[in-house]
Amino acid sequence: MKGIILAGGSGTRLSPLTRVTSKQLLPIYDKPMIYYPLQTLLTAGITDILIIVAPDHAGDFLKLLGSGKEFGCKFTYEIQDKPEGLAQAFLIGENFIGKDAVTLILGDNVYEQDFSEEIQSFKNGGRVFAKKVSDPNRFGVVEFDENQKALSIEEKPEQPKSDYAVTGLYIYDNSVVEKAKNLAPSPRGELEITDINNLYLKEGTLDVAFVEGEWFDTGTFESLHAAIEFARDRSKVA
Ligand code: DAU
Repeated sequence: MKGIILAGGSGTRLSPLTRVTSKQLLPIYDKPMIYYPLQTLLTAGITDILIIVAPDHAGDFLKLLGSGKEFGCKFTYEIQDKPEGLAQAFLIGENFIGKDAVTLILGDNVYEQDFSEEIQSFKNGGRVFAKKVSDPNRFGVVEFDENQKALSIEEKPEQPKSDYAVTGLYIYDNSVVEKAKNLAPSPRGELEITDINNLYLKEGTLDVAFVEGEWFDTGTFESLHAAIEFARDRSKVA
């Protein structure tokens, strides 16, 4: 299993914090944001990790994270020239992924859960993790039938069909690369991860699990603040 941390994007929603640095380098209490998704991958035993960054602050990521030796893993770096969508990670990462399965985590997502079991037991298809939220229209939203079987996923719907957001951890078999190659950009001009998930859903191979514990997408001031409080409280317990 390979790992990808997607840490590009423009971070405009957090401006002016992101005017001179990248969102994923901002502090979440006592660590840079990217340490949290990195820890999620390391805890699950993934040690071959591609970090995708935007051109502007690429050197800062290298300075912070280095070769991976310090973390007991190996890092590869790639530049995403423009933020053309989450699913572009599988095109940029095609050579890195090779013939393996891959876990993608967003560089601004903070999880409490240990995903070792979910990642190590993965065989094929796709596996994503949903979480009940109060503002589903900010996310990819899963529609379920009465037996909690996923029916569809919509990206940032105006009228969400449930309160369950697809969070930023995605486990896929190797067919994700071919799936990404066949995507067309969405109306907002991005290769959407939601379109990949819907392809797996159509094949009947998408497993929609639920996040246990806290989860933060730290892309807004409110959620960034909540994640910082969470990290601070947790560090007091540890
Ligand atoms: O956080 C979970 C949500 O992430 C999902 O529910 C949505 O389905 C998914 O589209 C995504 O929504 P966001 O609105 O949070 O995506 P955003 O554009 O904020 O990008 C998420 C992270 O990925 C962010 O840290 C920036 C980075 N990124 C984004 C794009 C579009 C890149 O590195 N490259 C990109 O091209």
